[in-house]
Amino acid sequence: MNILVINGPNLNLLGEREPEIYGSDTLEELMAWLETSSESIGINFKFYQSNHEGDIIDSIQDEREWCKGIIINPGAFSHYSYAIRDAIAAVNKPTIEVHLSDINNRESFRKKLVISDVCLHTISGKGKDGYLEALKYLKSI
Ligand code: DQA
Repeated sequence: MNILVINGPNLNLLGEREPEIYGSDTLEELMAWLETSSESIGINFKFYQSNHEGDIIDSIQDEREWCKGIIINPGAFSHYSYAIRDAIAAVNKPTIEVHLSDINNRESFRKKLVISDVCLHTISGKGKDGYLEALKYLKSI
């Protein structure tokens, strides 16, 4: 099973970025943790991070034949990128949206989610466990 994992803007700074909100793991550590989990046996991952909306759209389009499902933390794009939303709708792959922090208990602008309606599920506030939950969800469908 091939899974594309996309992390959006500023997530490359995990570990040093507001650790009280996002935790102390770096993105590399977090993705390695996911990849080596027992849930990941038999899964082929491609990991992609970008701070640029168009690059994220390109990765969704480019991997559409390869991947069976997508796990995406769109970062702040979650709140306003209709273009990423449309890319996910266009490729029509089961997609799970993940947020490390509890977006419903932060600034009000984070409550607006424009990508979630094309995702099967949105997981928020569970830290890195959210990525594992997303993987379990994709495996179950
Ligand atoms: C985030 C939440 C977003 O609101 C924020 O812009 C991020 C990270 C999260 O993982 O909690 O960059 O997606």
